[in-house]
Amino acid sequence: IISAKDIREEKIIGKTVIVIDMLRATSVITTALNNGCKRVIPVLTVEEAKDISKSSKEPCILGGERNAVKIDGFDFSNSPLDYKENVAKDKVLVMTTSNGTKAINACIKAKNILIGAMLNAKAVAKRAVELNNDLVIVNSGTYGEFSMDDFICGGYIIQCIKDCIQVELTDIAKTAHYIYQCNNDVVEFIKGASHYNRLKELGLEDDLNYCCSKDIINIVPEYERGYIHKGM
Ligand code: MLT
Repeated sequence: IISAKDIREEKIIGKTVIVIDMLRATSVITTALNNGCKRVIPVLTVEEAKDISKSSKEPCILGGERNAVKIDGFDFSNSPLDYKENVAKDKVLVMTTSNGTKAINACIKAKNILIGAMLNAKAVAKRAVELNNDLVIVNSGTYGEFSMDDFICGGYIIQCIKDCIQVELTDIAKTAHYIYQCNNDVVEFIKGASHYNRLKELGLEDDLNYCCSKDIINIVPEYERGYIHKGM
């Protein structure tokens, strides 16, 4: 496990990476693709997102956040519950967020880039096992800071991997796994997380409960050549 801010080319090159931003970017991506979105284009800036959407020949929706709220001129915020089938189906989602889309873009030198959340933890673990390669779990964190939510999500994904095969873990991966084992009730644990409380203050309890649901989605979004598709 590493934090997005610590990514260096040599740490990820040739490896499988799982990017986690369970609150909420990777939960949005997983939900939108599960609801029929054609692909997700994760970009760094608001301007880039608007330019891509303007010049696209396919129907696009603009989604994302700054400070956890909807961006001016965008269609939707970073709430996974916004991306129901009637919104997402057959659309291209162009997305920019404060941490998650940055973390994904920082991983482009990896061999395989999988998108993980609590929502699809078992599925993403299974896919990582199939790829049979060294695995780096990247926690997006919050503005460069460690985040409890991504850490425990990584711990749960490690549990799912250990249910399939024997693995060697780094000290930090062992710690994430241990934290998950001691805190099976994920919501209870992440109640202390700063980003959880920011979202709660904004009245986004429904998002929080949804993002903490384990294994309700079976797809594994995968980033390749600039966009994220539904995966295998
Ligand atoms: C991000 O990518 O920074 C987050 O998903 C923020 C949020 O919860 O909207």
